[in-house]
Amino acid sequence: MSKKDTHQKDAEVNQAAGNGRRDFLRQSTLITALSLSPGVLLKAAEANIDDKFAAYFEKIPLSIEVNGLKHNLSVEPRVTLLDLVREQLALTGTKKGCDHGQCGACTVHVDGQRVLSCLTLAVAQQDKKITTIEGVSNGKNLHPLQEAFIKHDGFQCGYCTPGQVMSGIACIKEGHANTDDDIREYMSGNICRCGAYHNIVKAIAEVNKEGLQP
Ligand code: FES
Ligand code: FES
Repeated sequence: MSKKDTHQKDAEVNQAAGNGRRDFLRQSTLITALSLSPGVLLKAAEANIDDKFAAYFEKIPLSIEVNGLKHNLSVEPRVTLLDLVREQLALTGTKKGCDHGQCGACTVHVDGQRVLSCLTLAVAQQDKKITTIEGVSNGKNLHPLQEAFIKHDGFQCGYCTPGQVMSGIACIKEGHANTDDDIREYMSGNICRCGAYHNIVKAIAEVNKEGLQP
């Protein structure tokens, strides 16, 4: 091979290497741009945020009565009644079990009716009367159903117990506690992972039988 041919070959090899480097740089720049774009897009979206989306985070006034105390609050429309009582009012007796309406641990009363507070928007409770587990005792005297839970060992870990008691009180008030089968049926939305069901039924049946006004 002549000297000229050798130079030409070297030039071709160098050009191929240059192309390879350029391709590599182009690809890595593209990858970098793609990895950055979500943030860039987010910023652009934030800049053009629409009014309805902004309203979702805007606090609105809410007046409610909880355990006999009136509260004038400022609440984001997305906040559940469960998070409101636990996080804004520090009433942590009401428990968050599943947060999906499946366990009953979050049961409270709204105007005397039992509701799952994890599925209830706080802002929809304007001027309503809420009762949580902290509000069922009479001063230092426990509610009769709380006493009956203790007497009959209606709990083990106790995590489900506030919800069980709130549902149990409602169950008696609704007239759904006249037979053990009825109690099981109308308490079926309250799950107890410790399996204290048998004693929970006994406690509710006893309070119902004694005719104690819940
Ligand atoms: Fe509400 Fe489970 S936390 S039903
Ligand atoms: Fe433990 Fe019911 S007492 S979950």
